[in-house]
Amino acid sequence: MNTLDVSNLRIWDNLTGKVIVLNSSFQVKQESCLAIVGESGSGKSVTCRAIMRLNKSNIKQTGSIQLNGVNLAKLSEAEMRKQRGRQLCLIMQNGMRAFDPSSVVGSHFKATLQQHYAWNASEITSRMARAMESVMLKDPVALMNKYPHQLSGGMLQRMMIALAIVLEPTLIIADEPTSALDTLSQFEVMEQLISLREDTGCSMIFVSHDLGLVKRIADKIVVMKDGEVLESGTTADIFSNTSHEYTRHLIEAKQVLNRHFSSRMGGFNLVDR
Ligand SMILES: Nc1ncnc2c1ncn2[C@@H]1O[C@H](COP(=O)(O)OP(=O)(O)OP(=O)(O)O)[C@@H](O)[C@H]1O
Ligand SMILES: [Mg+2]
Repeated sequence: MNTLDVSNLRIWDNLTGKVIVLNSSFQVKQESCLAIVGESGSGKSVTCRAIMRLNKSNIKQTGSIQLNGVNLAKLSEAEMRKQRGRQLCLIMQNGMRAFDPSSVVGSHFKATLQQHYAWNASEITSRMARAMESVMLKDPVALMNKYPHQLSGGMLQRMMIALAIVLEPTLIIADEPTSALDTLSQFEVMEQLISLREDTGCSMIFVSHDLGLVKRIADKIVVMKDGEVLESGTTADIFSNTSHEYTRHLIEAKQVLNRHFSSRMGGFNLVDR
């Protein structure tokens, strides 16, 4: 069964008439992880935001986006707000942008969770504290009293993952969740995302340029190029028998980078992580 079924998604810029995504269709099976890969500008983030219906107002979309049988494209904005957070959770590249810079992160958690659950403040704090400890954030109550700028990028990403653990959404969309992080935090955040999948049984869309990470987390891959789905298949199939030059180029570019990195770092190979 599919958690998400996107069909004939077309996205364009109403100001310029430029078509950004031509006609894309893909599915995310229940409890599975679909990776979306492709060069910069191929339409990955616009596609993620189209699913959340969070693109800027000049960006228009048509097509059907079924989340567990509910066509999100047909919901009113008020109904869509109920889906965001509770059913659909977006983890972005830059954790800092996800939080309001003028309030402590605990207020963001409270505001988000109170939209979906009838929990009181102390229940929210205790649920969040438990989730934060499970993603290795020590002293959670003190952390919840900090402003976003007082926390590192890796901590903010883990805070987002902790919030997702408490929200238990049906689908998590992680758009380059580790690309702004140093290598160690990248590794830790990936481990947390993998456990999040195992623990909550959520489905996931994972967008990344890093095919080493994709290989580690994804069951299926969609390759996008210039706003089109070029090919899709299981992770093993795409890595071993892609028939597309472009996909081979993405895989090989990654391997060349890794070999270079590996020779500099004395043999550690990122592709095989
Ligand atoms: N708000 C916007 N208004 C107009 N065009 C936009 C807007 N946001 C994105 N685009 C255009 O849509 C296209 C796809 O952008 P998108 O951000 O989805 O690429 P991407 O695949 O996520 O790239 P990256 O790997 O760099 O994140 C680009 O040509 C971009 O200029
Ligand atoms: Mg992007």
